[in-house]
Amino acid sequence: MELETAKNAKSPRPPAASVRNLRTAVEKAMAGGGKARVDAQKAKGKFSARERIHYLLDEGSFQELDLLVSTRATEFGLKDKDIPGDGVITGFGQINGREVCVYAQDFTVLGGSLGLAHAQKICKIMDLAHENRVPVIGLLDSGGARIQEGVDSLDGYAEIFYRNVKSSGVIPQISVILGPCAGGAVYSPALTDFVFMVEGTSHMFVTGPDVVKAATGEEVSFDGLGGSEAHSSKSGVCHFVAKSEPDCFRQVRELVGYLPQSRFEKAPRVANPDPIRRSVPLLEKMCDLDPRRPYRIHHIIWQIADEHKFFEVQSAYAKNIVTGFCRMGGEVVGIVANNPAHLAGALDINASDKAARFIRMLNAFNIPVLTLVDVPGYWPGVQQEHGGIIRHGAKILHAYAEATVPKITVILRKAYGGAYIAMSSKHMRGDFNFALPCAEIAVMGPAGAVEILYSRDIAACKNEDEKLALKAKLSAEYAAKFASPYQTASTGSLDEVIEPAQLRYKVVRALRFLKDKRLPGAHENRGNIPL
Ligand code: HXC
Repeated sequence: MELETAKNAKSPRPPAASVRNLRTAVEKAMAGGGKARVDAQKAKGKFSARERIHYLLDEGSFQELDLLVSTRATEFGLKDKDIPGDGVITGFGQINGREVCVYAQDFTVLGGSLGLAHAQKICKIMDLAHENRVPVIGLLDSGGARIQEGVDSLDGYAEIFYRNVKSSGVIPQISVILGPCAGGAVYSPALTDFVFMVEGTSHMFVTGPDVVKAATGEEVSFDGLGGSEAHSSKSGVCHFVAKSEPDCFRQVRELVGYLPQSRFEKAPRVANPDPIRRSVPLLEKMCDLDPRRPYRIHHIIWQIADEHKFFEVQSAYAKNIVTGFCRMGGEVVGIVANNPAHLAGALDINASDKAARFIRMLNAFNIPVLTLVDVPGYWPGVQQEHGGIIRHGAKILHAYAEATVPKITVILRKAYGGAYIAMSSKHMRGDFNFALPCAEIAVMGPAGAVEILYSRDIAACKNEDEKLALKAKLSAEYAAKFASPYQTASTGSLDEVIEPAQLRYKVVRALRFLKDKRLPGAHENRGNIPL
């Protein structure tokens, strides 16, 4: 009866208050830059910003904020322009039922360029993520600083960078590059934990091909300079490459499943159908291998991981060290492993940076580290020395020593010299240090050691044949003494020499024992500085 009366009465409210008006305003704002620009976006093989959010998040979970924000700038014709949402969509939603904050730049609106209101929207969503301890995911597709807004745009970037740093190591930050990302704009992704790119459509550079040509005379294409291949294999800026946008969002969702919501939580545990006592017979073959024979470390990781699943991070960069996530007994573990298939698994500058940053990220987010060691040493050479292998190599030592998360180390084969120490050895505070019976642990390999220890005897040989015979004899003696794990086990620098087939079980048991490990400083905030 009351409702009936209300319906018939003349509304005292102005027309702007009607629901229909709200719907019209929303519809207009959601249209982005209009059909022609959306079609142009599609023609480049790119999704619209809204489609991207749809693919990334759980169906129907997205809650948009600030849809009706628009620029207050008026210069250079902006006064007469329609700029829906100021070129960026922001809000929160879920990935596999867990909350995340998201922003997606809309290239169809002024090229996704960043003006003041655009930056304020991104900052608001970053603050929301930080305060509510959930990951933040940026979908970037932008011409960079909005030229018409001058220094306001630059200050907007500064506000974003500042928040990137304040949230570093507190909440996971993920950047997905889905178009251009140029100039200073590249430094927001660079400050985040993970960068994704899509083949063919993502580009990142501080200065584009034209400026490069003018400044240095070098001719290079967009792709050659800043495409996914360049950044995944050469610069190390990009962690994951996808073949298409749907493939990219599938990978982002998978990555989020390995991460905690923030540094105040642990990564999500899942029910594990893979028996923890599953034996790993392939590992017995390790001990029959010629010690000089290369193999891909992935074969070992796949064998020991739950359901043989390994999610590799930076797979194309510094392939001599492998980093990534797997689960063991249902718990998330970060793997750091030398890869003898590339540079014999030695540590060089790029491998050191890659491993150290990964270890620091694991430590920030309470994820245990499993280190698989097969390392002949640091990679030699003038280029490495002058490039700063001393400084870069030290980062691994720093990262392992400061890490308070559980640290389990398994020496599979070689562990020589400084690299033995660096790869989470016992005295760098590995919690459990295991070795296979075929492990070789020494200051250096037999050939090098004999040359130094017996240089005079070798020089005194009458001919080459005699030299070779003497070296072979001395190398065999040295190897008998040091090319085994037993001298190290006898000092307590190894906790156990294990049956190779039991490796998976030993690691899972160790992880379970260490699950409540607490060290002083474990609760301190640890930023994930780009190394
Ligand atoms: C304002 C921009 C813009 C920008 C693009 N647009 N970039 N508007 N500010 N920075 C607009 C265009 O005018 C155009 O508007 C629409 O976006 C699409 O751009 P197109 O050039 O037509 O697209 P495309 O051919 O695909 O080329 C994309 C592009 C190019 C490569 C990104 O637009 C470009 O070079 N833009 C400038 C890039 C740049 O130098 N940015 C500043 C970098 S310095 P209409 O109305 O025609 O659709 C920087 C400093 C940050 O970012 C510092 C932080 C510390």
